[in-house]
Amino acid sequence: MQRLYRKRIVLGVGGGIAAYKSAELVRRLRDQGAEVRVVMTQGGREFITPLTLQALSGHPVHLDLLDPDAEAAMGHIELARWADLILIAPATADLMARLAQGVANDLLTTLVLATDAQIALAPAMNQAMWRDEATQANARVLQERGMRLFGPASGSQACGDVGMGRMLEADDLAQLAADCFQRLSLSGVHVLITAGPTQENIDPVRYITNHSSGRMGFALAEAAAEAGARVTLITGPVYLPTPDRVNRIDVVSARDMLAACEAAMPCDLLIAAAAVADYRPEVIAQHKLKKDPTSGDGLLLQLVRNPDILATLAQRADRPFSVGFAAETENLLEYASRKLRDKNLDLIVANDVANPTIGFNSEENAITVIDREHHQSAFAQTSKGKIARQLIDFIADRLNRTE
Ligand code: C5P
Repeated sequence: MQRLYRKRIVLGVGGGIAAYKSAELVRRLRDQGAEVRVVMTQGGREFITPLTLQALSGHPVHLDLLDPDAEAAMGHIELARWADLILIAPATADLMARLAQGVANDLLTTLVLATDAQIALAPAMNQAMWRDEATQANARVLQERGMRLFGPASGSQACGDVGMGRMLEADDLAQLAADCFQRLSLSGVHVLITAGPTQENIDPVRYITNHSSGRMGFALAEAAAEAGARVTLITGPVYLPTPDRVNRIDVVSARDMLAACEAAMPCDLLIAAAAVADYRPEVIAQHKLKKDPTSGDGLLLQLVRNPDILATLAQRADRPFSVGFAAETENLLEYASRKLRDKNLDLIVANDVANPTIGFNSEENAITVIDREHHQSAFAQTSKGKIARQLIDFIADRLNRTE
């Protein structure tokens, strides 16, 4: 498959030794179906000849901002409009600094200011230059402005150092360039995900909870963010790092979780992966409960029902597309279907927690998704990260169909 079929790419070549890889990159981009125009900085020309890149791209290389002949053929504004993507590889420390400042003192930096196209940079420099605070600050500024950074990678460098700063290989850069054009299946979608267990206090030192690790919900949050969604992750107490680009809200009890979900509404998609405690102690003792010598060996705790977060949100007038989980130890599909109906869901994910290799607190999962028409889709056992990506693709497909 040519993932860059008819995509127009301006390849900017800066002045670094990694420029020798740019020749290969032109080939790889064209292999993927892209049309490539090369723009070189003055420094770039010191490392690789324009003639090489002209031969490989099939077009004259663009060199100067103020060259009347070149401007007559395809002016810099025209070139800026022509591009679907400007990929700068190698992007040197100096070039990144100039871009961060908005300087336009040569053709490539001018194009970057003049274009509406996506911009990606493949940094390439000595490891100490990459680590330098100024370069790091410039990288942050450029990313905040929406430019993508491809790499750098770590390894041995032309100067003899070892560390971060190597430019990625041409193959990897071509794949990343292709990723820029993939329509993200959940872009513009606000996804609310509940995860983890809840804790229901008995007294100041004791609580009721369950075995949920939060892994499935966190993996779903990560996959949804990767698919372009704005993700709000509301989680009970877990020991997991927050995935990138996910807004995490920590809660303790089921009632806290419901309040946090209601505050985060409206959302387009709700995925309730939390293992919410169905009951909580009717009263939370103010002081630690003491062993009572008059009540024999027993202790009676009066429990009351917690609100059903999923059912509450799925009943609202601004109801999101609602996906629940059914973790069961028996009659899995039957109980799951009943929950789909009773909680007014669009999809339910059935999860056999009697099997110790999947479900609660395990690394892997295997699931069956059931929809309102009773269709079942099975996902074979694999890591929770992979299942999460498959499930997000599946849900995104359904969501996009109902829009
Ligand atoms: O009824 P059960 O707890 O098995 O339902 C499971 C589904 O409902 C899960 O998606 C879970 O996150 C959600 N749920 C909820 N609030 C509750 C109980 C369950 O959101 N109080």
